[in-house]
This record gives sequence, C-alpha cells and structure tokens, in this order.
Amino acid sequence: MQHLSIVPFSSGCGALIDNLQLATCTDTEVDLLRQASSEFGVLFFRNQVLPPHEHLRFGRRFGNVVVNKFFQHLTEYPEIAEVRKEKQQETNIGGGWHTDHSYDDIPAMGSILVARQVPSRGGATHFANLYAAYDDLSDGLKKVLHSLTAIHSNDHLYGESGYYAKTDLANQLQGQDSVSEATHPVVIVHPRSGRKALYVNPAHTIGITGWSQEESRALLNYLYEHAAQSKYTCQFNWETDSVALWDNRCTWHFAQNDYHGEARLMHRLTIEGTRLVGV
Ligand code: OGA
Ligand code: MN
Repeated sequence: MQHLSIVPFSSGCGALIDNLQLATCTDTEVDLLRQASSEFGVLFFRNQVLPPHEHLRFGRRFGNVVVNKFFQHLTEYPEIAEVRKEKQQETNIGGGWHTDHSYDDIPAMGSILVARQVPSRGGATHFANLYAAYDDLSDGLKKVLHSLTAIHSNDHLYGESGYYAKTDLANQLQGQDSVSEATHPVVIVHPRSGRKALYVNPAHTIGITGWSQEESRALLNYLYEHAAQSKYTCQFNWETDSVALWDNRCTWHFAQNDYHGEARLMHRLTIEGTRLVGV
C-alpha cells in the first residue's frame, strides 16, 4: 500500500491529501482518514470521482450516516443533504462560524462535503482548530472552563420564528417543528484523539448552564474572538469535485457568502458521533 500523503494545509488547521481517491480507497486508508481527521480537524481532497452513490458508499464506510432535519435532500439519496444557494438568493446556509449538529444530545462526528457546482470566484469555506484555541488559553481559564457546561439550540436559527424563516432561504428548509436543545461540556475530551477541545460555537451555543445571559455572553464572546483568530483558521477554496471531510468535535466552519449572482451547490453527508464527555 502506498502511504497517504497528508500535508498540513495551514499552520493552524487542516491537511490536504492529494494521492487518494475516496471511492476506491482501502479499509486501512479509511482508518487512516479517521485518525487524520481527528488530528487535523479537517481533510481536503481535490478531483474526486465521487458521484452521489459513491459519496454515500464512502460515508457509510466512514461511519453511520445521520440525516439532517432541516436541509433538503436528494430525492434518490435521502441521506445526502443539499447545501444550495441559487443565483438570485442572498442568504446562504452556514454563513457564520458553527459546528454541525451541536444541538443534538449525541452530536454528529463530522461531515463529508462534496462540491458539485462552485461560483467562478468566492464561496470558500473557513475552518477553525478548537484544539489549538483551547491549548493557548491560560491554565486559570482552562480550569474554570473544565467545570462548565453550555446549552446548544437550533430554535433561534431553524425554528418557526428563527433567523432563516425571515430570509430567502425559508422555503428551502424544513423541520421547523423539530427544534431541539442539548447540554455539553464547554471543554470536551475528544473521543478519538484524547485531546481537549473547546466545544462552544457562535451559531448554536445559547448560554452557560446556570449563568445569566449577560455573564454567558461575556465569556462566550471572549472565547469566540479568541478562537476565530487567523492563527487557528484556514480557508479552503473549492473547485468542482473537491471534498472536505471534517471532525465537528474539534473544529468550527463557515461558508463565505461573497459570490452574489452565482449559484453554488454542495452535497453533504453527516456522520454519527458519540456522546461528548468533559475533562
Ligand atoms: C455544512 C456547511 C459550508 C459550505 O454543510 O454544514 O456549513 O461551505 N457548509 O457550504
Ligand atoms: Mn455546517
């Protein structure tokens, strides 16, 4: 077997794998990808031959597939969600820093996103490394954070009177009545790598358990500004048939909405995770 070429993508985050076709990789390589995604947070691939049935087959080899409640899905492959922005639309999906599915009791392990149609320029996805952001905090703050849990929700985004309901994405989303909340440790021990990672995110975390809104906002805003520094982040510029595979337990991501007047279509598979435990 040829060795996987895993090249760090930026000093802060991610790795590029350039000698592998996901559709035909071996079981050993799938294991290596699981390992590498939990270390680098996100893996990038170019020029993949991965039509929907191969996307799904690869996803199932990687883990159990979970279905997103809010996005539209491919008719023939209901497990595959569409992340679509039409030419005339203004709002995009995932336009602010977030972690997928942190509002679930057992949040998704990760996602496998395939670029089907990309704008002529713009439309990058940014990722942040929440291991590194955690590591750089002071020992004093780390100790405080270890004792905290936070509440995560999707109601304010996907609920009936949530953010998206007021946008031109509203009729593309569903599940307004299946909103949910979950509580997770503010610092988790990553189930695979054993490393500590910050597990709060600007989109879904609505407060620290037992703290007032003002207190929660002050702490969370500090952590968000800290983790969004460029030394922890990277930007991936898509080409058609590029793939990103990320681990939600140690990264954030957001889709840059800077390509008005052009369409963009991504196919996303979400992979089941495990319950998260704190320090
Ligand atoms: C997602 C998402 C980002 C993008 O699929 O979860 O946030 O760049 N997508 O489309
Ligand atoms: Mn997302």
